[in-house]
Amino acid sequence: MKKIAFFNHKGGVGKTTLTVNVADALEDQGKAILLVDADPQCNLTAFYINELDLEGLFADDAEDEERASTLWSAIKPVVAGRGGVRKVTTWDVGSDGRIALLPGDVMLSQYEEELPQAWTDSFARKIRGYDVMTAVAQVVNNTAKELKADVVLYDVGPNVGALNRAVLLDCDFFITPVAADLFSLRALTTVGLSISKWVGDWKTILSLASDSDKKKLPKGMPSFMGYVTSAYKVKKGRSAASPHADWEAKIAPRVRHQVVDVLRSVDPKLASSGSNKLGGVKHFQSLPSEVQKYGVAIGKLHGMVNGGHNGTLNEARDEFAELAREIVKRTGI
Ligand SMILES: Nc1ncnc2c1ncn2[C@@H]1O[C@H](COP(=O)(O)OP(=O)(O)OP(=O)(O)O)[C@@H](O)[C@H]1O
Ligand SMILES: [Mg+2]
Repeated sequence: MKKIAFFNHKGGVGKTTLTVNVADALEDQGKAILLVDADPQCNLTAFYINELDLEGLFADDAEDEERASTLWSAIKPVVAGRGGVRKVTTWDVGSDGRIALLPGDVMLSQYEEELPQAWTDSFARKIRGYDVMTAVAQVVNNTAKELKADVVLYDVGPNVGALNRAVLLDCDFFITPVAADLFSLRALTTVGLSISKWVGDWKTILSLASDSDKKKLPKGMPSFMGYVTSAYKVKKGRSAASPHADWEAKIAPRVRHQVVDVLRSVDPKLASSGSNKLGGVKHFQSLPSEVQKYGVAIGKLHGMVNGGHNGTLNEARDEFAELAREIVKRTGI
């Protein structure tokens, strides 16, 4: 089982869209997937679960607590210092019974507030620090094991905060979606710096921990699987002087210098020196928004939207399938 996050601290670059569509393509390829919504915005959860059902998910008071089934409710006893992680029921959100969702929760922001103290406590070798730092990892590992998942896909929020640090340190890999705009490009510098700082600090935490604690802690080695150019527009006709190619020409060296080289200077295992481009996803006009009505992947929209879109639906299905094959190849899942 491998754990992967789609990570870029720039918002709106297609992380959630990729999570949904790559999960669907992996399911089509026979894999079992656990989706974890670790973004307090809960976009992934809202994508799959309708509003009425959502209400039943959240615990607003202590009486509800037993039936709550979000990532927050699973880790809450640990954060409150009242025990270990709790088992929660996942949602079957695939088309073939092989995609399970561990729903997110806006209350994860409370967890995020506790994390800086837990980080400091981890340097001080305090058990409570380790427990809080690794609460999400514990829930995810237990759930993935129970479901016999081949892969965990984490959807995270657009920031370099303490929650993302805890999630990324639990991952085997991360993938960075890059949109064709200046801000997305500039964000790559922060991606490289943040991950390398987190990994470096975690190495210190591990070196200070006792041998028995060390065994229980995540190895903190999220290696960069590559980048995905996301939602680029291909211009047709006379103006085909390819703005897309211009962006590609800017993205590749930026990734090499600001992500790969920076990570490899901390540990060569964090990024391969081979090809860093994992794939590309075109701009599918209104289809990614259209699917939000149905809670399905773009390639599964056949019969739900105007038949005129069928060519684009097939194109989307093929692009995500290609991306999924590349992920399978690079992770060995
Ligand atoms: N390939 C695509 N073609 C067209 N629109 C897209 C594509 N990918 C994403 N979008 C649209 O762009 C918007 C942002 O996408 P998405 O929510 O996946 O980004 P995100 O990185 O998860 O955002 P956030 O940082 O807020 O979590 C959404 O409205 C989505 O429908
Ligand atoms: Mg998102």
